Amino acid sequence: MNLAIIGAQWGDEGKGKIVDLLAPHFDIVTRYQGGHNAGHTVIIRRDGVDHKFVLHLIPSGITHPGKTCVIGNGVVVDPQALLREMEELHAQGIEVNHHNLLISNRAHLILPYHVALDRAIEASRGGNAVGTTMRGIGPAYEDKMARRGLRAGDLTDPATLAEKLATNVKQNNRLLAMLGGELIDDKKVIADGERWCEMLAPHICDTTYFLNQSARAGKALLLEGAQATMLDIDHGTYPFVTSSNSSIGGACTGAGIPPRLINATIGVIKAYTTRVGGGPFPAELNDSLGEHIRARGGEYGASTGRPRRTGWFDAVIARYAVMVNGLDALALTKLDVLDDLAEIKICVGYRINGKEVDQVPYDANQMNIAEPVYETMPGWQSKTEGISKFAELPVRAQTYIARLSELSGAPFAFISTGAERNETILAHDVLNACGLTLPV
Ligand code: GDP
Ligand code: IMO
Ligand code: MG
Repeated sequence: MNLAIIGAQWGDEGKGKIVDLLAPHFDIVTRYQGGHNAGHTVIIRRDGVDHKFVLHLIPSGITHPGKTCVIGNGVVVDPQALLREMEELHAQGIEVNHHNLLISNRAHLILPYHVALDRAIEASRGGNAVGTTMRGIGPAYEDKMARRGLRAGDLTDPATLAEKLATNVKQNNRLLAMLGGELIDDKKVIADGERWCEMLAPHICDTTYFLNQSARAGKALLLEGAQATMLDIDHGTYPFVTSSNSSIGGACTGAGIPPRLINATIGVIKAYTTRVGGGPFPAELNDSLGEHIRARGGEYGASTGRPRRTGWFDAVIARYAVMVNGLDALALTKLDVLDDLAEIKICVGYRINGKEVDQVPYDANQMNIAEPVYETMPGWQSKTEGISKFAELPVRAQTYIARLSELSGAPFAFISTGAERNETILAHDVLNACGLTLPV
């Protein structure tokens, strides 16, 4: 049984929590795209104390002993950021070694000039900035597509790596000088490169063969998406997107596995919407209600600490995500954040230039002028936080969930009512239909 987990909105839906919850039922957890622009939070309660892990590059399965985590070929890896994350996990008592973390030799590297370019390019965009995480993601994928990138496999050959770094730093410094960016010290990068080789080479291997052979041997694969459908380079609100395919296609290209190996796909979606950075957001709340949701939901970026923009659930986007990814089911998260509200709105369509539409426009300018068409429901105004049985939810919350499912076109396999593992309602019938049997 192999399952893909995908963000269904603009990111930060709670993919980390869902992957952590599912990891015990799988053998291998694989990240297949993006880089350390991702911030996946996992909360583990032990002896009444919450332990928080924020994963950026390393799959969220890493806290589970005995599981293999894979950074697939579609991921862009900043060696420095990866080593930092390994150290942080070590400090939190999680051992990361070459048995439980494998890195694809085909994964491209993010190097210091990519970060400098990300900064310089964003600065040059002025008011039209994408609002990137400044992690060098876009420039690293540019180099990959332009066929001049360095790959993790290069970290297994220090002498050749040093030559390639010298050439690339020189070329990129010319570009950075033109853009008024910060120039890179080639000697420092080459010296750092030696350390990266030493520390990371034991983890680097051909994960494409590993994943396919493991699947053939009956191991269960969990594929962990980063970012989300609306941030996908092809299907999102271009150009306000990330530089990889964060929808389902990216799982196949980014892990090197055929589509037929993926038995089911679950989309993670919040009971409202958030987005970080620039770009259109029709159901955005720019008022005290939006501020309330941000405060109550702790809506601050797990990677950059930036306040997330907040708004109502957008069913147009939900339906689109179900269609583009062929979602078998959804995981609804953060229901508890809406507990106080007297009224809850759902965006069911857009009005663009006076015309009602029920589809996501391809053009960000059209999306930008789209006015939300709302349906209003009464709030439940009671506590759902921590509830783990559907029948214990207030009737109005049950009605809200049923309406979201109807509008989205997919059933809910999970309803999350808190950050911790146990604060989750499991819909066993839906899970079974996805091929998953979890303990009741
Ligand atoms: P990801 O990037 O999709 O993994 O999501 P993030 O980790 O960036 O953001 C989700 C945040 O919501 C994290 O801080 C989680 O701990 C938290 N979270 C997840 N599910 C729930 C939930 O059902 N209720 C509440 N209150 N918090 C949740
Ligand atoms: P997770 O996996 C939310 C956004 C950035 C910016 C755009 C491009 O935690 O859901 P990039 O640095 O990728 O070039 O930035 O994408 N972005 C995210 N927003 N969650 C994420 O990851 C994101 N990763 C990138 O804010 O708007
Ligand atoms: Mg996140």
